[in-house]
Amino acid sequence: MTDWPRVQLHVVTGKGGTGKSTVAAALALALAGEGRNVLLCEVEGRQGVARMFDVDPLPYAETRIATGLRTGPEEPGSVYALHIEAEAALLEYLRMYYKLGPAGRALDRFGVTEFATTVAPGVRDVLLTGKVFEAVQRNSRNKGARQYDAVVLDAPPTGRITAFLNVSESVAGLAKVGPIKNQADTMMTLFRSPRTAVHLVTLLEEMPVQETADGIGELRGARLPVGGVIVNQVRPRDLPQEALAAARKGSLDRAEIGGDLAAAGLQPSDEMIEGLLAEAAEHAERRALEDGQRTVVQGLGVPTYELERVAGGIDLGGLYELAASLKQQGMA
Ligand SMILES: Nc1ncnc2c1ncn2[C@@H]1O[C@H](COP(=O)(O)OP(=O)(O)OP(=O)(O)O)[C@@H](O)[C@H]1O
Ligand SMILES: [Mg+2]
Repeated sequence: MTDWPRVQLHVVTGKGGTGKSTVAAALALALAGEGRNVLLCEVEGRQGVARMFDVDPLPYAETRIATGLRTGPEEPGSVYALHIEAEAALLEYLRMYYKLGPAGRALDRFGVTEFATTVAPGVRDVLLTGKVFEAVQRNSRNKGARQYDAVVLDAPPTGRITAFLNVSESVAGLAKVGPIKNQADTMMTLFRSPRTAVHLVTLLEEMPVQETADGIGELRGARLPVGGVIVNQVRPRDLPQEALAAARKGSLDRAEIGGDLAAAGLQPSDEMIEGLLAEAAEHAERRALEDGQRTVVQGLGVPTYELERVAGGIDLGGLYELAASLKQQGMA
């Protein structure tokens, strides 16, 4: 049993650079255990998924990129990835709904592509979310298309996420009735349902935590379902509180440190010990700030998950490590 058994669409947002793409990838791997197939979508056009998984740049087509996290005797499923572009999504939409076939290509010459790139940003967003919606929904219009147990979206940052998902609002100025309005309303029904969860990634720093709190408020105001908060890049908590307190006060035992260094075969100078004490004080200071922010996060009233900072950066092995951690904490 996971914390999100009914969720088919996991939207991963957060302040820029906090680890949205990393967490979305790890979550996709974790969800793709035990024969489940998962689609990982990116919409910002920077090919981050391809880089993380060390594969060629992704086309506008669902591409198998990894085997899911193995969690038991059962074979894992697969993670597929899709790089969504507004122009390609518009052409596909026209082909699918109006059965244009090759005519779609002719249409392109009349500037559909320009249309998609120059229209109001809100409309552009609807083309992106529309494709995500289609992958979750996979209705009779798209027979033969692969069905997924879950879709994970590496989404725009917190500051834009509510507007991005609030598609009814985006098209409100364009269409009050008719197919576009209906389509937007149908998408909204999914985005506002318990089949969707919007997760927020943060670091234990004041700015991202504040942005997370604001983002949760905005999402709730728009009646969009808030999922969990993933606290990313947490420093290992391997020092006891007393040692941290002493490090901050500068009251660590110098003689003992010198002795330990000597026992390790070093010849500690006063300078070396001073340097270590300064580093310890800085570490303890940062840990104290982190603990303060952790308390704020825990007060947000949503499930929280923590991911450690992986030493040396994230490679494919690191993604599986993070996936295993999310699984263990019940997120997948
Ligand atoms: N748990 C972690 N341990 C170590 N490094 C991490 C961790 N999470 C993310 N990183 C690194 O931090 C950097 C930013 O991560 P990522 O690209 O996932 O953030 P993002 O929120 O998607 O950024 P952007 O806003 O630019 O899209 C990357 O170099 C990534 O490898
Ligand atoms: Mg990213």
